[in-house]
Amino acid sequence: MPDWIPLARPSIGDAERSAAQRVLSGTMLTGGAELTRFEERLAQTAARGHAVATSSGTSALELSLWALGVGPGDDVLVTAFGFPAAANAVAARGARAIAVDITSDSWLMDFEAAKRAVSPRTKAIVTIDQLGAVTSGAAIEALEVSTGVPVLSDAACGLGGADEDGRPGGAAGRMATFSFHPRKLITTGEGGAIVCDDEELARRLRQLRNHGQAGGGSFASIGTNARLGELSSALGLAQLARLEPMLVERRMLVTGYKERLEALRASSRLSWQQLPEGAVHANQSFSVLLADKFQRGEVLKVLQSKAIGCGPATYSFAEIGTHEGPGEAPKAAVLHRQAISLPLYIGMRSAELDRVCDALAEVLP
Ligand SMILES: Cc1ncc(COP(=O)(O)O)c(C=O)c1O
Repeated sequence: MPDWIPLARPSIGDAERSAAQRVLSGTMLTGGAELTRFEERLAQTAARGHAVATSSGTSALELSLWALGVGPGDDVLVTAFGFPAAANAVAARGARAIAVDITSDSWLMDFEAAKRAVSPRTKAIVTIDQLGAVTSGAAIEALEVSTGVPVLSDAACGLGGADEDGRPGGAAGRMATFSFHPRKLITTGEGGAIVCDDEELARRLRQLRNHGQAGGGSFASIGTNARLGELSSALGLAQLARLEPMLVERRMLVTGYKERLEALRASSRLSWQQLPEGAVHANQSFSVLLADKFQRGEVLKVLQSKAIGCGPATYSFAEIGTHEGPGEAPKAAVLHRQAISLPLYIGMRSAELDRVCDALAEVLP
């Protein structure tokens, strides 16, 4: 049996080990200088005024919706195709997630569909930077202006990418959130963050993150514990310093995939996400959509039997059966059923790209 090629693998090196050592040699394990520095660098990376680091990408989404006042009786429009964390966060606030379809080329929110779905119950709209493609900031802002509804950008996979106008992942919307789960572009083990430009909003998010505490022993409201500790923050700082070279390596790997898979694409056996001219994909994942004639389950089984880590690209929350509520998303349903993610990680070798692409060519006759 050949060596297992993992679907994803975090890249942890000497910089991360010495960052962890720095924290362990001190006395502050939470709420210290590592957190402050991590938040400063993150805000810079996303071209934002403020960053509030959290315990996960999901808690970042929940706090953002909380700060927007989302609650029972409200609807939140959510891009259908994407990990269901955003729809779950809406449900956790007691509100209803309404699925909005994607466009077939970008796999990102269809803004015309979003406009049509807005109703008097709509309290917020969530875009998702799927697989590392950054949603257009201009489209987000136009939607906010035309509907008067705030947009929350789930940029969990978009850190380091840019839209067609060169605006970085996380730069648009009332707030944007990131995840630092080990499968993301940088990792803190578990962790996340919210970025925004409004100082008052950032202050509110910090309070919600810390049980509603307003300082000096006073409480501004109820809140929760969604804090990120010093070890995680130090890890995040070390990873952020390496973001650019890691993005370059990911881009080279995806270019390698596309070159090797071009014949399969040209013969319509598979396709991949298409972005507008000038956009920079962060390549959190590389996913392909299989033609309808192929059985995805069978394809995955064969690839796995050849020691290749792979799985569904991601999900449409309208299809997973855990969310009630209206919202038709037929294009997202196709990707939910037929798209797969292929191995992509720092340190992946070209012989491994060959193995994955050869196996794919064999299984897609
Ligand atoms: C698009 C998206 N949003 C949110 C999340 C949730 O992030 P976390 O796992 O850090 O809670 C994920 C994680 O998989 C994701 O892919």
